[in-house]
Amino acid sequence: MKCRVCSHEISPFMSYGHMPIANGFLMPEQFKDEYFFELKPAFCPECLTFQIEEQPAPEMMFHENYAFFSRTSAHMQRHFKGYAEWVMVNHLRGDDAFVVELGSNDGIMLENFAKKGIRHLGVEPSANVAEVARQHGVNTLVRFFGAEVGADIAKEYGPASALMAANVMCHIPDMHGIAKGADALLSPDGVLIFEDPYLGAMIEKTSYDQIYDEHVYIFSALSVANMFSPYGFELIDLLKQETHGGSMRYVLARKGARMVAPSVAAILAEEKAAGLHLPETYEKFRQACEASKARIVRLLTEEKKAGRRVVGYGATSKSTTILNYCNIGPDLIEFISDTTPIKQGKFTPGMHIPVKPYTAFAENPPQTALLFAWNHKAEIMEKEKAFTTAGGKWLTHIEKD
Ligand code: TYD
Ligand code: ZN
Repeated sequence: MKCRVCSHEISPFMSYGHMPIANGFLMPEQFKDEYFFELKPAFCPECLTFQIEEQPAPEMMFHENYAFFSRTSAHMQRHFKGYAEWVMVNHLRGDDAFVVELGSNDGIMLENFAKKGIRHLGVEPSANVAEVARQHGVNTLVRFFGAEVGADIAKEYGPASALMAANVMCHIPDMHGIAKGADALLSPDGVLIFEDPYLGAMIEKTSYDQIYDEHVYIFSALSVANMFSPYGFELIDLLKQETHGGSMRYVLARKGARMVAPSVAAILAEEKAAGLHLPETYEKFRQACEASKARIVRLLTEEKKAGRRVVGYGATSKSTTILNYCNIGPDLIEFISDTTPIKQGKFTPGMHIPVKPYTAFAENPPQTALLFAWNHKAEIMEKEKAFTTAGGKWLTHIEKD
């Protein structure tokens, strides 16, 4: 395969096997037509980008029935309020600021700008989530962002002070289109700010469940710097985030337009120390994934042998990779409870474990809960004190966090 970013010839370092659409929760009559592809991650030693080889067509993942709504978690609402305020304080200059968010989802971040009367526009390809954003007073355009859309927005609204994204950039295969769109849209001292699950955290924790169809890339500062440099952008700041089990916020500006914070050199050095630029790191990661698989299958089998009921907590997109890679089905997990109405009453992609509303967990608690929403651990542990105190056991596939 060719690297999606620099076209260098590369090859996957492992396979997670056949995978369905991670957010493709479905009904039994749809089982026979379920779509599968082979999930294979690769690392490019030339531009240092971690990527997946094959990705289903975007229309198969992001459509009017897209099951992902950002508003489901109280912690995420607080996170986005903090993100928005940080942008306002640090990166908006002058009175006539204009901010654009790509992949604005249900408006969870932009509503903070809308409330303050700041000119804003969300660009969101899924019509159903865009509609929720509009209901919250967020201007939203239903399109996929790229070079053309960037230029169109600049023509209609004028140049943007900031182009932002959260958990979206890593979904977009055509980074060249994004860079061109940013170049067309941003003012001379405008900033491009995005955060996504961080490669450094994924390697450290073996949280391979970050790898699924939507995440075509898992970024590092090294790879982001290489991606945007040909378009005249440089990293000016880097901020680690707790969200999604370890994320990074990247801040870029046109070369020389803004001061470069000391965090940039510090984190680039940290990434080199962790070997994120070396192919052997990914060989070690492959071995760690295999060990993680063996461990979780062993733990679930022990629960079953001991006659203990196991329920999954949180039907995350990430869980699709774990369940299908480890071949864990309804024989090992009775059901998965989830607070998202659109997932309830359906079955998980590929392994077809029933998804039930949260009440099913609360009213008939199992002996053991497998925490698939491990990235919301603090929030969930707080909520589930009663389960834990009554002797309920928690498992995750993450050993270190
Ligand atoms: P998310 O963290 O966005 O993970 P992913 O990106 O892998 O889908 O999803 C969290 C899921 O967990 C979502 O479906 C809602 C569910 N959830 C609960 O069921 N209960 C909870 O208390 C929380 C915080 C989340
Ligand atoms: Zn490359």
